[in-house]
Amino acid sequence: SLIRLSDYRAPAWRVGKIELAFDLGIDATEVTSRLHLQRDPTQEESLRLDGEGLELLSISLDGHALSDDAWRYADNVLEVDGARDGSVLETRVRVQPAANTALEGLYLSGSREAGFLLTQCEAEGFRHITFFPDRPDVLTSYTVTLRADRERFPVLLAGGNPDGSGELEGGRHWARFVDPHPKPSYLFALVAGRLQKITHDYTTHSGRKVQLLIWAEPDAIGQCGYAMDALVRSMRWDEDTYGREYDLDVFHVVATHDFNMGAMENKGLNIFNAKYLLADPDSSTDDEYRAVEAVVAHEYFHNWSGNRVTCRDWFQLSLKEGLTVFREQQFSADMNSAPLKRIEDVALLRRAQFPEDAGPLAHPVRPAQYSEINNFYTATVYEKGSELVRMVAGHLGREGFRRGMDLYFSRNDGRAATLEDFLGALGEANHIDLMPYLAWYAQAGTPRLTARGHYDAAHRSFTLTLSQHTPPTPHQPTKQPLPIPVKLALFDREGRMMPLHVAGDGAEASGGTERVIVLDRAEQSFVFQQVASAPVPSLLRGFSAPVILECDYSPEELALLLRHDVDGFNRWEAGQQLAARAFDNLRDGNATQALDAWCDALAALFGATAIDDALLADLLTPPSEIELAERERVVDPSHVHALRLKLQEHLALRIGRETLQQRYDALAEHTSAQLDALSQAHRRLKRRVLDLMASIDPWHAHTLATLQYDNAPSMTDRLAALAVLVRGNAAQAHAALLHFRERYADNPLAMDKWFSVQTQLPADAVIERVQSLEQDAAFTLKNPNRVNALFGAWARGNPDGFHRPDGTGYQLLATRLQQLDALNPQVAARLATAFNGWQRLEPTRHAAARAAIDALAAQTQLSRNLGEIVRSMQHG
Ligand code: ARG
Ligand code: ZN
Repeated sequence: SLIRLSDYRAPAWRVGKIELAFDLGIDATEVTSRLHLQRDPTQEESLRLDGEGLELLSISLDGHALSDDAWRYADNVLEVDGARDGSVLETRVRVQPAANTALEGLYLSGSREAGFLLTQCEAEGFRHITFFPDRPDVLTSYTVTLRADRERFPVLLAGGNPDGSGELEGGRHWARFVDPHPKPSYLFALVAGRLQKITHDYTTHSGRKVQLLIWAEPDAIGQCGYAMDALVRSMRWDEDTYGREYDLDVFHVVATHDFNMGAMENKGLNIFNAKYLLADPDSSTDDEYRAVEAVVAHEYFHNWSGNRVTCRDWFQLSLKEGLTVFREQQFSADMNSAPLKRIEDVALLRRAQFPEDAGPLAHPVRPAQYSEINNFYTATVYEKGSELVRMVAGHLGREGFRRGMDLYFSRNDGRAATLEDFLGALGEANHIDLMPYLAWYAQAGTPRLTARGHYDAAHRSFTLTLSQHTPPTPHQPTKQPLPIPVKLALFDREGRMMPLHVAGDGAEASGGTERVIVLDRAEQSFVFQQVASAPVPSLLRGFSAPVILECDYSPEELALLLRHDVDGFNRWEAGQQLAARAFDNLRDGNATQALDAWCDALAALFGATAIDDALLADLLTPPSEIELAERERVVDPSHVHALRLKLQEHLALRIGRETLQQRYDALAEHTSAQLDALSQAHRRLKRRVLDLMASIDPWHAHTLATLQYDNAPSMTDRLAALAVLVRGNAAQAHAALLHFRERYADNPLAMDKWFSVQTQLPADAVIERVQSLEQDAAFTLKNPNRVNALFGAWARGNPDGFHRPDGTGYQLLATRLQQLDALNPQVAARLATAFNGWQRLEPTRHAAARAAIDALAAQTQLSRNLGEIVRSMQHG
């Protein structure tokens, strides 16, 4: 049953007000709901409410119990006769939180004895709690009463402002919450259990006093301080940057170890996967700290981009997710280093989104149809969606974008909006037609941008010809040209930027060194005048559009940009392009020009003093195996793995043992657990240098790694050392792993890293290790983080170790997917996307992967989630 964007119809019934009461219990919770119904007079439809797995205890309409022939509950729909505009429907249902392993709706986190109850409703979890028109365009005012045993559930929380609490008979108590802002059901949340809190008094720019509360289980409350700090900075930033303030008296944030996704922006009660909330130096890496900062900001920013302005339907998901990822990226860039953030984001886009867009699961940022909406919380909707917002923001400029966002927020406040509303408001505020960008939302696939330059010495002119082409994707054989903004600069052969004079430019626009040209046809030429010598164009600066650039640079030209480009991002980008060419050199074995240019340029930069250590670390990192594989027509993951190692070996040798050792020693000298940018940069470079050393002198590197492991003051250093040992030396790794297991046995997030790091074993040993780790007492298929730490890290993070030619990797994953699907369909479906790219595998692996996927597809019990992914994999 496919849901189609083109089938959208406004709801026939709305709910002005809902009064919810919960009698909470771990095995059984009873939910009473009173819906104040509103009928759309132009539609005839009878009242139909969503409800899944609900045990209906009683039902009444306008105070009278309904007779059995006045309602029907089948196929997850409750149909009720006789409802009128203004009617009040009361239902009482029972649900079973402890039996809910799908972690959707109301469920138990942790043990029966010590765990707590919580909800996850996006996208369609509310229908697992009560009967309701469970769609984002039904906005309702919520009054929620929670009742529970006081000893077992001392803390009772729901979204909105507190509205009283008190004692009940038999050791029970109650608490009520009223949310003054009408909201869709996917933003409902409650939490109940033995939680502890930290608080902070925050005053908004306009003077509203807000109490911020972060809640966690007793053993984790000490790790919430950094999240509170990030929350306060996020709130201030949104006020300063977008003029957006928080709008309730309280803001709750809760950490749980049992969560399907990263976090959830429930109104006034954000719930986080502990992985993105808890942090301390002893158990979190620098990258994890930055992830906490980013996700705290992301969920907070949703209060405006998502909650105050929500989505009309789930096809518009990127309206809130793409926009919020973009806002979060801006925030992170402001808090840290902007070029490093851009490098991280583009690397993620290339690793996660480009392969998705090139494979059987490719879909537009606004999909045209889906079977299971939870399968569309993808890198395309999130990351590519953010890139589309970035293009539009770049088009409008800083002030213009702010003007447009102001209009978008004010015009759509309290509404369920569409992408047309978004582009319309941004455009109108700036008297620009942005609707051509809608094509980006509707078209799947990554455009290839080809650039050719021609220098005419006689006329001192440079002609840049740009053309675009998007390969076909499933269900979308033909593609149209898209507007592609290309930010560029021209460099002379000494590495200096040249003034730009574009033919037809007004004089005032002329003369800068950087500008944006927009390609909006299949092919177009741009002429630059007064160009003193043949230039090297630096194209797509800052990654101004999410495309694959094909430009026939010579290795020398790329090396020039790598050495001289002033923009950190573009310098890195030139290095990535050059590394990819160096990879081709090694693969084809017929030239070493690019390899030499790459190694020489980096060896020179390695000695330079002016360069930031963190940027240097990124420059020294070749594209990932996944990115390199994307460039191949036929993929042999082992070959890609081996060649990438060779690439690093060449680089390490060119820099030289001595030089690497000196740098490592210098960096190891001021080792600390401090979190300032400089300390983080040192650790990042140290890790990279140790990796490079391991590629040429493994024994020596393992000795250093063992020392580093033993003396590490932070998880960043400890885990970096452990990773080197695991990849290279069984005996030393064994000792360190035993120590780690012992030390962190009670820390689930650290234990996840213990599982993950072992999935990076060399290909010949990793499957056996994965199978033995499954037997570890700490492993369980019921915890999504643990599943991802083992199976996700292996299948996605170790391509060589997953794609075994004999197909044993595929069989193992397929078997576990089937077991996992019975427990948690969302997590199973997401893990199954690890098969992406199988069609381009070399013949032996191709056949083995096909067999495993076909066998999985032949299972009759598959959930709608996993079923949709597997079928797309097969036929995509
Ligand atoms: N809206 C959440 C976010 O901030 C994601 C929740 C998605 N949950 C799900 N089950 N699909 O990105
Ligand atoms: Zn989000």
